[in-house]
Amino acid sequence: MYCTRQVTDSVTWVGGSDRRLALFENLFPIARGVAYNSYLIQDEKTALIDTVDSSISRLFIENIYHALNGRELDYLVVNHMEPDHCSNIDELMLRFPNLKIVGNTKTFNMIRQFYEVDLENRMVVVNEGDTLSLGKHTLTFVFAPMVHWPEVMMTYEMSEGLLFSADAFGSFGAIGGNIFNDEVNFDRDWLSDARRYYTNIVGKYGVQVQAALKKAAAVKINMILPLHGPIWRNNLEYLLDKYNKWSLYQPEDKAVVIFYASMYGDTENAASVLATGLAEAGVKDIKIYDVSSTHVSTLIEETFRASHLVFACPTYNMGIYPGMLNFLHDMKALNVQNRTVAVMENGSWAPVAGKLIKELLGTMKNMTILEPTVTIKSSLKEDSRAKVEELKMLFLPL
Ligand code: FEO
Repeated sequence: MYCTRQVTDSVTWVGGSDRRLALFENLFPIARGVAYNSYLIQDEKTALIDTVDSSISRLFIENIYHALNGRELDYLVVNHMEPDHCSNIDELMLRFPNLKIVGNTKTFNMIRQFYEVDLENRMVVVNEGDTLSLGKHTLTFVFAPMVHWPEVMMTYEMSEGLLFSADAFGSFGAIGGNIFNDEVNFDRDWLSDARRYYTNIVGKYGVQVQAALKKAAAVKINMILPLHGPIWRNNLEYLLDKYNKWSLYQPEDKAVVIFYASMYGDTENAASVLATGLAEAGVKDIKIYDVSSTHVSTLIEETFRASHLVFACPTYNMGIYPGMLNFLHDMKALNVQNRTVAVMENGSWAPVAGKLIKELLGTMKNMTILEPTVTIKSSLKEDSRAKVEELKMLFLPL
């Protein structure tokens, strides 16, 4: 049965949510599910902005027929060709024989790569800044390559100031009726998932996100309508500020996060001793994560949030403990930079993890590495504890 909501008098949300999928992109845990947003604009002409993942195709098709109420579907605008949004293009082309597909050159190349469809007489190829009139509503197309794929564009509707932003400004999390940001407690229930979504999916492309933000700043936006998560219809400056910080790799919080790997609890103990010392010195909201039991997407999210990062790690096979190594490689891949970092290593006979971690951190931009590196031989003793104390003092005042 259909399940839609009006966004404005002319725009209907025809998307849906998947609460059964365990891993987004078969990679990222989504305990709160995920929403796939799609929007139908009805004027003299009708235009659908993007489709949805195949997991909710049945609902999606019912939503469209309900919202159209017997009208034809004239245009499908394809802002993004990742299959969580483009899985119903061929189905819609079959159901609506006069449907025209709106996209850029790269969009159509990808449609051909993914699907066996006859695009003859079905394509409207647009360039940056082109317009498409639907009647009172006019769409213009703003290219946003690599936010998140090279073909990505955003669609701006001029009369109502609606920015259909593709993946940008989206979030993990299923939508439960409340599709607007002012209907949810975003800070409490959504911010962490929005940050985890952005940093892991688009985090690498800060420069491209900055370019898109500059384009967005040139037009009057009343509403941001992403492909995942809530629609933003007020307090846009809050969201834009978050995106600005994330894409500039500036920390949101002046805060300490300690990431540790520990085989038998001794490196964990050193992490706890450092955290306790910092807390006694007045540092608040310290976070500690075990890299073996915390998904790397959460670790990455925290590296984008906090200003001060500590890596505590055993030496393993004359290298970095595997969970920590994977995390550091992900940090590098996602361009994490501009942080103050410290290292604690453990090794029962030949500790080398600290040196290797610092080498990896040194390949990331503008990382300030605090010295000394604390070296633990099997377990913390008074001499190594004194080094933890010395390290602690370097964080103060935070
Ligand atoms: Fe939600 Fe890049 O797809």
